[in-house]
Amino acid sequence: MDISVREWSGYTSSIAPRRAPETTSDWRMRLPVISGSGVTLRELRMSDTPALLDLLGETEVARHISPPPTTVDGFERFIAWAQQERSAGRYICFAVVPEGMDTAVGIFQIRQLDPQFGTAEWGFAIGRSMWGTGLFRAAARLTVDFAFDTLGVYRLEARASVANGRGNGALAKIGAVREGVLRRSFLRQGQYHDQALWSIVRDDWRQQQQIGSAAVH
Ligand SMILES: CC(C)(COP(=O)(O)OP(=O)(O)OC[C@H]1O[C@@H](n2cnc3c(N)ncnc32)[C@H](O)[C@@H]1OP(=O)(O)O)[C@@H](O)C(=O)NCCC(=O)NCCS
Repeated sequence: MDISVREWSGYTSSIAPRRAPETTSDWRMRLPVISGSGVTLRELRMSDTPALLDLLGETEVARHISPPPTTVDGFERFIAWAQQERSAGRYICFAVVPEGMDTAVGIFQIRQLDPQFGTAEWGFAIGRSMWGTGLFRAAARLTVDFAFDTLGVYRLEARASVANGRGNGALAKIGAVREGVLRRSFLRQGQYHDQALWSIVRDDWRQQQQIGSAAVH
């Protein structure tokens, strides 16, 4: 999805073995730390602010998404808001930390579209220097597994501006299905943009993962 206006303003290698998401007794209390293929996902920390401000504020990263907060204060308010929404069971935001690093280089978010979390929408952004490295795919797999296995999502949607070649390419390559175009659905800096609607359905995802792991062994 385009990192949704609601999220900001409310204040993700080829087939490699993955560790199943650690299930917490309750993700609303705290997000689990989950790892696989050179990446760890964990709760956002206030100390991620300087790095994420720089990385997500870059013109190329922010071009097709809702403008991220531009100040330390704004970003910290976003993190506080994300934690409140997680506690309320409506939304989660993972920080993406590559192996060997300590600070976040991106975020993956999921918000509920219905009160049972049966349908949800996800979005993601990672720093420009990590594009094309396989980090997206690794983090996306962990996030989608978490949505289906832990949050209990059945249908995971994403919206990407039609003009966002990389965003749409990334969704296509992990097996999301492009369902259509939402005309003029995204208001960004005074202009309406068309968005592609993508979905991943739990049964398809699990089948795809089984085929993938069978192909490796
Ligand atoms: C979206 C994002 C997380 C993807 O991460 P990434 O590392 O760039 O993704 P990848 O390189 O693994 O995959 C992108 C795919 O799109 C392809 N692609 C790039 N430009 C493209 C274009 N104009 N049209 C179609 N596909 C394109 C790439 O070739 C790649 O596919 P490949 O690996 O098969 O070659 C990252 O680009 C990002 O943070 N972008 C800014 C924020 C954003 O747009 N978020 C998404 C909102 S939906």
